[in-house]
Amino acid sequence: MPALSWSAELALAQPDLDVTHQDFVDALAALERSLEDGDSAAALQALISHCEAHFSMEEAWMRAMGFEEGNCHFSQHRQVLEVARDVLGRIGSEPAEEVQGYLERLVLGLAEWFPMHAQQMDAALIYAMQELKFDPSAAPVTVSV
Ligand SMILES: [Fe+2]
Ligand SMILES: [Fe+2]
Repeated sequence: MPALSWSAELALAQPDLDVTHQDFVDALAALERSLEDGDSAAALQALISHCEAHFSMEEAWMRAMGFEEGNCHFSQHRQVLEVARDVLGRIGSEPAEEVQGYLERLVLGLAEWFPMHAQQMDAALIYAMQELKFDPSAAPVTVSV
């Protein structure tokens, strides 16, 4: 059983985000599987690429709605990417056993972090989008919060 599985509690009823969040769960599960028998560098790079696109999408929505650039939602995204890139940089340059430990802690940490982030930060973003009638499929517009 993976450290994180998709479940109804993770759904936020915003189709673009729910599909993206299922992709996050899949990318994390692929990294977890790679710890047993795969190429963890490739799986971690794939997870980082996913997160770059995923977080950029949410941040573009926040900017379009006038959210403060430095708010905690932006900073949580940045911290996750910093940690994941740091672990990626250690693969191949540090002893394999230590790297395995970093990867295991990264998987468990992200599996714990993601439901909280989705249910708090991302749910608040969706709430703001509904309140402001912000349509992410339309051309970006600037509205005040
Ligand atoms: Fe998200
Ligand atoms: Fe987010």
